[in-house]
Amino acid sequence: MIPMKTPVRIAVTGAAGQINYSLLFRIASGELFGPDQPIILHLLEIPQAMQHLQAIVMELEDCAYPLLFAIQLSDDPNEAFRDVDYAFLIGARPRGPGMKRADLLDANAQIFATQAQALNQYAHRNVKVLVCGNPANTNCLVAIANAPDLNPGNFSAMTRLDHNRAISMLAKQCGVLTSDIKCMTVWGNHSCTQYPDVYHAKVKGKPAIQLIDEQWVTETFIPTIQFRGAEIIKIRGQSSAASAANAAIDHMRTWVNGTGHGDWVSMAVQTDGHYGISKGLVFSYPVICQNGDYEIVQNLEINKISRQRLKQSEKELLEERKQVKNLLLPS
Ligand code: NAD
Ligand code: LMR
Repeated sequence: MIPMKTPVRIAVTGAAGQINYSLLFRIASGELFGPDQPIILHLLEIPQAMQHLQAIVMELEDCAYPLLFAIQLSDDPNEAFRDVDYAFLIGARPRGPGMKRADLLDANAQIFATQAQALNQYAHRNVKVLVCGNPANTNCLVAIANAPDLNPGNFSAMTRLDHNRAISMLAKQCGVLTSDIKCMTVWGNHSCTQYPDVYHAKVKGKPAIQLIDEQWVTETFIPTIQFRGAEIIKIRGQSSAASAANAAIDHMRTWVNGTGHGDWVSMAVQTDGHYGISKGLVFSYPVICQNGDYEIVQNLEINKISRQRLKQSEKELLEERKQVKNLLLPS
């Protein structure tokens, strides 16, 4: 029998939503932290969704997961975030067909201010916070500003779904497995200005750019990844859910367990001006994770066209930051 560790407390917001209908079951089954790590789930929802959440809890119980020690439900962030070690901030309005993610700022940013204040007061001091609710980068910025007693390095926003999409598309193009692709990068905002960059990627150890056509990169690969979320909404009528849950697990697991040898992942983190991006923005970078921390990969060569793409995403993030300036002031 595997000896059990002390349980970890994992808060998940928007627990009755569509992403969580996949995420909660995967966390509870041990996919996040492995078969010897017991879990206590802290589920946060709005009052109107508590009844629906009760049914999800019944289903979680009916799975008889050995690692799921307890489930706590709440509609109060001050209660839900008490002592938590990890927080998945998923709960927020999703966009519908024809909307941009930034159109959600007015509806969603306040949620992240309120929740960050509660995390600041009640969570474990080393809590790792993943912001998934859109627009994820700027919601993460709002969260950081509203949790002044927590290390900004404990917050990140999710661009892992874009990263996974880019790996998958490149692997298909090259006729290899996704595990043969290393060092993919998604720069910038989780929006259509994001820059999926293959110039540093490797396929079976070889530079990807030697195996693919540059015209395919600019005319097919980049726009497909940039607009993949919108395309799913157009076809499905709802935004991505299972793949988003999968990316959230990948993101947190890599952050905690580390990146593989000779590889990196994409995470949106607060910048100190790396690669010439305005200090303070939450920007997606290539990062290496080790011992529970991330470090931005430095000194990659950025060509002129790539630089313009980074700047375009920065410009959009600066505009989003202006839109939420009232939520960034110290209270
Ligand atoms: P959903 O509408 O199915 O679920 C959202 C849930 O959040 C609902 O149950 C709602 O009641 C709850 N909620 C709303 N306000 C809340 C609050 N203040 N506290 C707690 N819960 C609250 O949406 P979904 O499809 O699960 O998507 C959730 C968010 O994730 C959306 O903003 C979506 O755009 C975003 N998303 C991001 C990525 C990414 O890659 N970063 C990928 C997919 C979806
Ligand atoms: C995605 O990338 O699929 C999500 O951010 C949902 C969306 O609004 O596109």
